[in-house]
Amino acid sequence: MEYTVNSTAIGSQSTPCVILGIYESRRLSPAGQQLNKSSGGYLASILKRGDIQGKLEQSLLLHDVPGTACERVLLVGCGSEKDLDDSNYRKILSCAATTLDQHGIKAACCYLLELSIPERDLRWKTRQAVEVFEHRLYRFNQLQSKPDKRAGRLRKLSFNIRAAGERKTVRQAVKEGQAVAIGTRLARDLANLPGNICTPTYLAAQARKLARQSEHIKLKVLGEREMARLNMGALLSVARGSRQEAKLIVLDYQGGKRQDRPYVLVGKGITFDSGGISIKPSAAMDEMKFDMCGAASTLGTLAAVAEMGLPLNVIGVIPSSENLPDGNASKPGDIVTSMSGQTIEVLNTDAEGRLVLCDALSYCERFKPRTVIDIATLTGACVIALGKQFSGLLGNNEALVADLIAAGKHSGDVAWQLPLGKEYQQQLKSNFADMANVGGREAGTITAACFLSRFTDQYHWAHLDIAGTAWHSGHHKGATGRPVPLLTQYLIERCRKR
Ligand code: BES
Ligand code: MN
Ligand code: ZN
Repeated sequence: MEYTVNSTAIGSQSTPCVILGIYESRRLSPAGQQLNKSSGGYLASILKRGDIQGKLEQSLLLHDVPGTACERVLLVGCGSEKDLDDSNYRKILSCAATTLDQHGIKAACCYLLELSIPERDLRWKTRQAVEVFEHRLYRFNQLQSKPDKRAGRLRKLSFNIRAAGERKTVRQAVKEGQAVAIGTRLARDLANLPGNICTPTYLAAQARKLARQSEHIKLKVLGEREMARLNMGALLSVARGSRQEAKLIVLDYQGGKRQDRPYVLVGKGITFDSGGISIKPSAAMDEMKFDMCGAASTLGTLAAVAEMGLPLNVIGVIPSSENLPDGNASKPGDIVTSMSGQTIEVLNTDAEGRLVLCDALSYCERFKPRTVIDIATLTGACVIALGKQFSGLLGNNEALVADLIAAGKHSGDVAWQLPLGKEYQQQLKSNFADMANVGGREAGTITAACFLSRFTDQYHWAHLDIAGTAWHSGHHKGATGRPVPLLTQYLIERCRKR
């Protein structure tokens, strides 16, 4: 979509649609009051009739309002002014985008940046506006033979900014918002693709495409032979049941100085998780095509970072495989040796994410990373603990965890810390190897992180369990692109602090 900034007075705004906020108790925003004046009190009379009360997410589309140059005026309910917070602001934007889309409106001028939200500045409000609009208008229809042509017709959004000094801020914030949106869209597109298309080899090809688009990104892809040479016995054990070759994809973004230590993202890339020999029940098993959402968000974040040209070094590492049952597949009880030398008794082949991640995490030591963040749809237990709102967050460095929580709040892509207490480590005891790959039913998200923590003692590390947040089930089934906004915000903040 195309974004512009204008300073035209609201009455002479010639556009298919003006978007205006209206608070509960039928109070118009400042621009609304102005429009009411130029329309000779038309808006006030509509409000008096009671067609809209200004409740959150109410909307009313008016045509040919007298005394105006626009074709339509969209009134969007903002709820009570004192309750207007981050999440309500996003709901208001979302409601506006959905209404424009439903009516097939091609261009609009938005006055929602004038809403005031505690502790949020114009830059934040603009970025959120771009991100929410792009998010709402997203469609995944590339695999439909006759995609709905009417959908997603909004092409141009203009922000009205009267103060000349603020226009630059808005233009820059639009660019940031678009970068996050590009990354989020890439993550959603990759994740929504089915397992028969999005294989480890396909992910590697998409990484190559990304590397070609940016002169600052270099790509390395390791196949199973190279991984065997590195003794990645845990990762390779997961791939045994698959006819698709496993890949370790390494993207290297150099936006900083050569000697700057990199931030490393490690994304779980299981392109389909059947559970392997410990096979999953068949209900909703299709959703296990989303088991590569960690990988998708890693690629998406790198795309956003490259789009913004952030002045730092970021490495993305993606261990990718399918997890399928086969005569050659890993069996419960098998013992494998990880790259770190530690041995693992595979008591459940469905706990495969930690097996691919542990070798990828050992591989990261070579980068002398500033921080390492892994992102994984790792445990069903996380969906039970935190639901679909917060991603699970654990780590071995409190400052890193605090930075990620803050980035989550700022971007609206929130995470909640769970304790990585050493008391939980004993649940991973094995009678036959250094550790088991499962720790029983209790505290499943924590014991999964405990497992990973045994491979990350060389650096500051955090783990994001996105099992609940990476996709929606049911009627609106599809990837969310999370946690690209959180990760991108974390990296943006790292540039300021130097
Ligand atoms: N990819 C799944 C986790 C998952 C399940 C994410 C459902 C989202 C929804 C992971 O590989 C897995 O199967 N985990 C097991 C671990 C268990 C065997 C210790 C789980 O959560 O059941
Ligand atoms: Mn699994
Ligand atoms: Zn999995």
